[in-house]
Amino acid sequence: MNNDIFQEVKNNLLSNKSNHLTIMHDTVIEKKLKIIVECGVDRGASTCAFLEALKKINGKLYSFDIKDCSNLFDDKNWNFFQTNDVNLSKIINKFSEIKKGIDLLYIDSYHEPSHVRKILNLYYPFINVNGYIFIDDTSSYPFRKLNILTDSINSDLCKEEVEEFFYSNFDAFEFKYNGGENGLSILKKIKNNKLYKNSIWKYNFLIYQFFKLIKKFKYKFFYK
Ligand SMILES: C[S@@+](CC[C@H](N)C(=O)[O-])C[C@H]1O[C@@H](n2cnc3c(N)ncnc32)[C@H](O)[C@@H]1O
Repeated sequence: MNNDIFQEVKNNLLSNKSNHLTIMHDTVIEKKLKIIVECGVDRGASTCAFLEALKKINGKLYSFDIKDCSNLFDDKNWNFFQTNDVNLSKIINKFSEIKKGIDLLYIDSYHEPSHVRKILNLYYPFINVNGYIFIDDTSSYPFRKLNILTDSINSDLCKEEVEEFFYSNFDAFEFKYNGGENGLSILKKIKNNKLYKNSIWKYNFLIYQFFKLIKKFKYKFFYK
């Protein structure tokens, strides 16, 4: 058991109420979200936050990572599987309880827009009504502050992918966005509609840039 990380996360949960770990921890307790699935463990900060919350409501956490993180914690509520999170049939074979319904899905594994969308599509049927999906790292701001081009664009594309998923399935979700830190997107499933996988219409990006320029120009020269 890694006590350092547990202590670090516990301090965070107490002292920083706008932190993504605290938001998720408090939601788990408030809404009694007993079955949690976590994609991406690494050093286990989010794992700690979930396990801390589950102590109070007695639920189960299922975590996946392509790296072996099995020795990070020894907790009766924790189940770890070293696997790619897209291998959902293998995952369900190992943890059949997931098939009965997930109350919270946390996506923090491969921060690639298509991967995020794939996970959303794959896991959607198993998310319970009134269940939540949290997607981390959907803000480019931390990278823009450091002038890092590719990561900035990638984070914006991940956010766009989440928004497109939401707009394509508008009646099935409520959507909130926490812009602090790395950007936490929050989807609450409110209906068990059939998933709509096609994209909805979007304007052309070049026309968007042109229109933006015209508007700036118009404002500068005609509204004085
Ligand atoms: C950002 S870290 C997770 C951080 C963790 N949630 C925390 O709060 O400390 C991303 C992790 O996802 C794992 N990962 C990347 N691609 C993955 C995939 N396709 N399936 C499962 N895990 C993956 C990486 O090995 C890495 O440990």
